Amino acid sequence: MPNNPPPIDGARVLADLNTLRGIGTYRTGVHKPTFSDAHMGSLRWLAERLPEAGLAAEVDGIGNVVGTSAKPGPKLLAGSHLESQNFAGWLDGPLGVVYALEAARVINPDATIRGAVEVASWCDEEGHFGHFLGSRSYVGALTEADIDAARDRNSDRTMREALASAGLAGRPRVTAERGRHVGYLEAHIEQGETLESADLSIGVVTSIVGIWQYRIVFTGEQNHAGTTRMAIRKDAGLAMSRFCVAVDESFPKLSGPRTVWTTGRMTLDPGAPSIIPGRAEMLFQIRDDDAGVIARLEQHLRALAADVTAQGGCVVEVERIRTGTPARMDAGFQDAIEAAARDLAGGKSLRMPSGAGHDAQVLATIMPAGMLFVPSIGGISHHWHENTADADIVTGAAVFVDACLRLLASTS
Ligand code: GLV
Ligand code: MN
Ligand code: MN
Repeated sequence: MPNNPPPIDGARVLADLNTLRGIGTYRTGVHKPTFSDAHMGSLRWLAERLPEAGLAAEVDGIGNVVGTSAKPGPKLLAGSHLESQNFAGWLDGPLGVVYALEAARVINPDATIRGAVEVASWCDEEGHFGHFLGSRSYVGALTEADIDAARDRNSDRTMREALASAGLAGRPRVTAERGRHVGYLEAHIEQGETLESADLSIGVVTSIVGIWQYRIVFTGEQNHAGTTRMAIRKDAGLAMSRFCVAVDESFPKLSGPRTVWTTGRMTLDPGAPSIIPGRAEMLFQIRDDDAGVIARLEQHLRALAADVTAQGGCVVEVERIRTGTPARMDAGFQDAIEAAARDLAGGKSLRMPSGAGHDAQVLATIMPAGMLFVPSIGGISHHWHENTADADIVTGAAVFVDACLRLLASTS
């Protein structure tokens, strides 16, 4: 650790975040679906900033921006993502990218500091086309066939078409050079209310949940809503609603203390007031940081579906469409963040699990990884009301840069 680490520029961090909020603004937040003009504009903005931090920038063939340094010494990889959920918040993603940029601007030009911070923006963390596509590509866990199969969840446009219209088709994909990095550090807003409610400034992430997702299809019989007696109907919509209630009643008996489950989308086919729906579909998600708990709940989900089918009304099919391994954050990274928070945030930190998914869990499959949280006002995220106090943003940036310095120094 240098005795007098160079100071961060808090005003510059806030200005950068506000500049990114200005690209694709929606109310107080942003609307930046993956490969939209606003997302691509944000990637260009970042690529133009990276040389200021001594980094050669590349926007690769999956939409990752990766900055590499020629400075000798250890390299720490840092970043997050720049696309958003639809009509959502301004900090989910950009906070971690701007902190990484600030760390690189402070650390890389300083010849008295051994090593460099390399900055990345991972594409499609928010899952418009898949999940963690950019970080999975970087760690070598995304095939060309995966890209061929990926489609926009809103428009059904293929990912290949989207890459072509974003000008990225045919570009090579950058993959990790094994052994290059001492690890990966990511900052993020907490997206919950744990820190705020305990008046704390920094979350030291211990683990990140695995996310398993399902498409559940109910097939009944489409018929006339006026002439079909209640007793003989095969109403797929009603079966789906009852199924959701059964899940909610029985899951708590099998879940862990922080297991969560969500039905994020329900559709009825044909979806008209005078027609009994013959088909219903729901997208269902389970999250926990213990894969064993999720597997147990999946088994139960399938048993509930089989029960409905056995009753003879509607046929229920459960298809798992996403899995993700929960990740443990590196102990040394947790210690570095905690020590930085002790010095620069009055020790107001808490070790805590992450209920949100993050690219750090993908990077953790090939290198030590750590994450730092800053408080979210009211615990709100994936909504344009998402916000964090300026003072917390600046404190978080200082802790982040200090943690980077500690991690680089620990390799000397
Ligand atoms: C990531 O945004 C998540 O949904 O956890
Ligand atoms: Mn998000
Ligand atoms: Mn995020």
